[in-house]
Amino acid sequence: YHVDWDASAAEKDGFDYFMLKEIVEQPKAVADTLLGRVSADGQLTLDEMRLTPAELRSVEKIAIIACGTSYHAGLIAKYAIEHWCRIPCEVEVASEFRYRDPILDQQTLVIAISQSGESMDTLMAVRYAREQRARVLAICNVNGSTIPRESDGVLYTHAGPEVGVAATKTFLTQLAACYLIGLYLAQVRGMKFGDEINAVIAQLATMPEQIEKVLDTVEPVRELAHSLADADTVLFLGRHVGYPVAMEGALKLKELAYMHAEAFAAGELKHGPIALIEDGLPVVVVVPSPKGRSVLHDKIVSNIQEVRARGARTIVIAEEGDESVRPYSDVLIEIPAVPTLLQPIVSTIPMQVFACELALAKGNDVDQPRNLAKSVTVE
Ligand code: AGP
Repeated sequence: YHVDWDASAAEKDGFDYFMLKEIVEQPKAVADTLLGRVSADGQLTLDEMRLTPAELRSVEKIAIIACGTSYHAGLIAKYAIEHWCRIPCEVEVASEFRYRDPILDQQTLVIAISQSGESMDTLMAVRYAREQRARVLAICNVNGSTIPRESDGVLYTHAGPEVGVAATKTFLTQLAACYLIGLYLAQVRGMKFGDEINAVIAQLATMPEQIEKVLDTVEPVRELAHSLADADTVLFLGRHVGYPVAMEGALKLKELAYMHAEAFAAGELKHGPIALIEDGLPVVVVVPSPKGRSVLHDKIVSNIQEVRARGARTIVIAEEGDESVRPYSDVLIEIPAVPTLLQPIVSTIPMQVFACELALAKGNDVDQPRNLAKSVTVE
């Protein structure tokens, strides 16, 4: 009696790589972040956070600290929190934070975002913030890890273990956690535009299905990635919350495909980077929600035209039905229509698949990229 059993394949649920498995797990991961926290009538319950509504009402300023992909989640959170809560919010890479004498006090809420809960740069920034008497809230995936243990409160992302070095499902769940915190802060502080908050909460609850849709339509990205394996550089453009998504796309490409990749806020293009555009250069563009929902849409369409006129090969990520970008897109990747602030949850996925497939096309190990560790426990 003999059973052919490959332990490594079983661990990966039949996928060749953990990263692919973890990309596909994203609908469930985000559903688990939301589980028990969003009720059918739009009430948010974040009791386990250990910060009281009174404490949250006294917050006058927010400082978000994180590294790498978690930092990108923080950049996106700033747009959402400032818009929904009208609390000034700064975002900084944790390794820089304590070296510039930041202004912190008891009315400052520091949000430390760390998948592992063990990044030394983030931990040192947390310790520094607490010494300055700021309150620290951690967004973390690993239960009982050091950063949440040393923080005043914690919101766990519940994404499940992430084995691939590249953060994928944990990033999407960090975004979901940031949105929950922003919306909860808006609720407890009694912000005026309650209708908008309620509508976004309802939309947030549907995100697992939207992610599922993206995963079903992401196939062309695989072919595209294989056709670009010889490119030297890839540029990424975005605006508003699409800008940190572009940064995340560029980081994924560096860490997995070992390619030079750079992200720009599309409005900055004319201030210098447009000089880089030459024949055949791949430029990935994240397009904001179409007209009527984002004032930036037209502006980015002009940017796409500008780079294409100079020879760029345009890879455009846009909302389904947004026909205005089609004439200027060499490759058009469609994502579902969701509220502007939530768009990163769907627009990031093509970036992940793109980087993963490009790395595979180059023969790289996507689970264990060279020179990198899953959690960086040195400063
Ligand atoms: C992401 O793909 C990277 N592996 C890396 O940037 C990571 O996000 C960063 O090191 C922060 O880790 P943390 O979230 O565990 O603190």
